[in-house]
Amino acid sequence: MDQVLSGLPRSGDANVLVGFDTSDDAGVYRLDDTCALVQTVDFFTPIVDDPYTYGAIAAANSLSDVYAMGGRPVTALSIVAWPAKGGTEVLRNILLGGAAKMKEAGCAILGGHSVADEEIKFGYSVTGLIHPSRIWTNAGARVGDTLVFTKRIGTGVLATALKRGMIQETDIQTAVESMLTLNGPAAAALQGLTVNGCTDITGFGLAGHAREMALGSKVTLEVFAGEVPLLDGARECALAGALPGGLKNNREFAACDVEVMPGVASELETLLYDPQTSGGLLVSLPAADAGRFLDLFPAGRIIGRVVERREKAIRIV
Ligand code: CO
Ligand code: CO
Ligand code: CO
Repeated sequence: MDQVLSGLPRSGDANVLVGFDTSDDAGVYRLDDTCALVQTVDFFTPIVDDPYTYGAIAAANSLSDVYAMGGRPVTALSIVAWPAKGGTEVLRNILLGGAAKMKEAGCAILGGHSVADEEIKFGYSVTGLIHPSRIWTNAGARVGDTLVFTKRIGTGVLATALKRGMIQETDIQTAVESMLTLNGPAAAALQGLTVNGCTDITGFGLAGHAREMALGSKVTLEVFAGEVPLLDGARECALAGALPGGLKNNREFAACDVEVMPGVASELETLLYDPQTSGGLLVSLPAADAGRFLDLFPAGRIIGRVVERREKAIRIV
């Protein structure tokens, strides 16, 4: 995608505060000195069987990029790809699940668009508001910062194991709950603290999104592999080889920028490439602010630190 985008002309509009050239979570456009728009779009094929849950996860996932920038979501438009022979009751439940999650976020659905497609896809374009001087980019991590992560990882391997019949639907319950959890409360707890860098962990996995933060910030991120919280069963699924195609792609793409220190368990390293759906926030902030954040948001975990730029952007210890 980077290759495709790199050839496209920039808008040249000075009000574009964050555009597509920095691989950030969402675009930001200044309206005036106190207000800017945060805009993002995300949609994907069903990740769980239950339509209502799928719709709600799609909403939580679409909202996440706005939270990752420090914005407050205000409006959303739905995007639906639906088979001509698909049942309307199923679609209705997807929309109901999405609407409930948007309501929880205080985000108004204004409308949407649907197309006929053999494969079901669903998601939202979300618009948020932000103060132009309080944008959390993924390019501001500083040497000495603490890295905090707000959820557990493993949704990709768990979904793959479920698809292959290696585990049951009940075994992915903690993963489903995690995907349904809005990043809003974590982002709210960060307001007022010094946030040097923030991004949400989604399709490129923890290592891939951390790499983007490291490259954008011209630092190296040191990840404490044993401290990264894992969803129930994720480690077993990784050991059993339930690796999604996206994980292999992520590893192929990013591994050249990753240094793995001896002693790191290989399945933990593998899970750092696991593509996440509706994953948590990776935050780079001064140690004192990290401590204050964890007081406010006890589910967060310290998973690493920022060091001076070394040969590789990521160092797994
Ligand atoms: Co993102
Ligand atoms: Co996104
Ligand atoms: Co950001």
